[in-house]
Amino acid sequence: MKISLTGIKPTGNIHIGNYFGAIKPALTLTEQYFCVYFVADLHALNSNFSPKQLQEQIYEVAAAWIVFGLDTEKAIFFRQSDIPEIPELTTILSAVTPKGLMNRAHAYKAMLDKNAEAGNDPDFGVNMGLYTYPILMAADILLYNSDVVPVGQDQNQHVEIARDIAENLNRIYGKTLKIPEGINSETTKVIPGIDGRKMSKSYNNTLPIFAPEKDLRKQVMRIVTDSTPPEDPKDPDTCNLFQIYQHFGAPERVEEVRQLYLQGGLAYGALKQELFENMIETFKPARERFNYLMENKHEIDQILTSGAEKARELGRPVLARVRKAVGIDR
Ligand code: ADP
Ligand code: TRP
Repeated sequence: MKISLTGIKPTGNIHIGNYFGAIKPALTLTEQYFCVYFVADLHALNSNFSPKQLQEQIYEVAAAWIVFGLDTEKAIFFRQSDIPEIPELTTILSAVTPKGLMNRAHAYKAMLDKNAEAGNDPDFGVNMGLYTYPILMAADILLYNSDVVPVGQDQNQHVEIARDIAENLNRIYGKTLKIPEGINSETTKVIPGIDGRKMSKSYNNTLPIFAPEKDLRKQVMRIVTDSTPPEDPKDPDTCNLFQIYQHFGAPERVEEVRQLYLQGGLAYGALKQELFENMIETFKPARERFNYLMENKHEIDQILTSGAEKARELGRPVLARVRKAVGIDR
């Protein structure tokens, strides 16, 4: 079976964009691939300098994957910082990675642009963690002989860089690393946020799945709609409330609501209340298990620790091959 690998940065406050855009589609891959999922906590170190918050977010994101049905019997699930082979491979890969490749990485370039605009030194706020982020990510991918890497479009460049790095090493030392392929899910649409822009933590416009009910309700009620009176016809396809609602309503009800938009007679407030109730109903079991796990973090630890053992088993032979190829084996 081919290997699929994907990492999730521990960013906490999982929202419905993360769920429909990343978690749900990734979980369906277990039928086609041997799946490896991990919490990319080392990747968070260059931007999150609050240890307490990072700890909590690692558990939150791990719990989210577990409650949404990640099958730890069929797939491997672990946390990146439990795998010492990753930083070791990162160091070896760094030696064959041209600096120019890092200069072209989007996240670094975005920082340069931001600094230029603000009249700052080009490297203001750029730490080496950010600068070499793609090498760490290449190590994640290459350590397990991954065949495919399911990612959002924004991560395609990182997968391309991982391929370049592997090809460089293979060119110098002979065929040692498997060349991975990035895959994007076509079915996944961008979920709009409550203000109509892409739903994203950075915009503070999310519907957080595991927030207390009253906070979630408040967010649902804040979904921005236009000022068309209830009796007037409206366009469902341009309304972000409807775009979000259609992920939750039963298909016949969604069609009924669509007709109400087109004919007139729909009150936004009532639809928001219905959306809120549907969300609570849909996520009830997941929310309950999530709260349980967050109160019993040792259960999450157990799952991650046993996953790390399996991951290390999978990665060790690859690292041994690399060590041998470059001449540091015994
Ligand atoms: P955020 O934008 O909230 O910071 P991340 O960048 O951490 O989210 O994204 C984690 C995963 O969730 C990525 O695979 C990303 O493609 C997916 N994702 C995030 N927001 C959305 C959205 N609004 N619609 C669809 N997928 C999304
Ligand atoms: N960089 C990815 C993100 O920000 C997370 C990630 C880290 C990853 N290592 C990976 C994704 C390896 C796929 C494969 O979303």
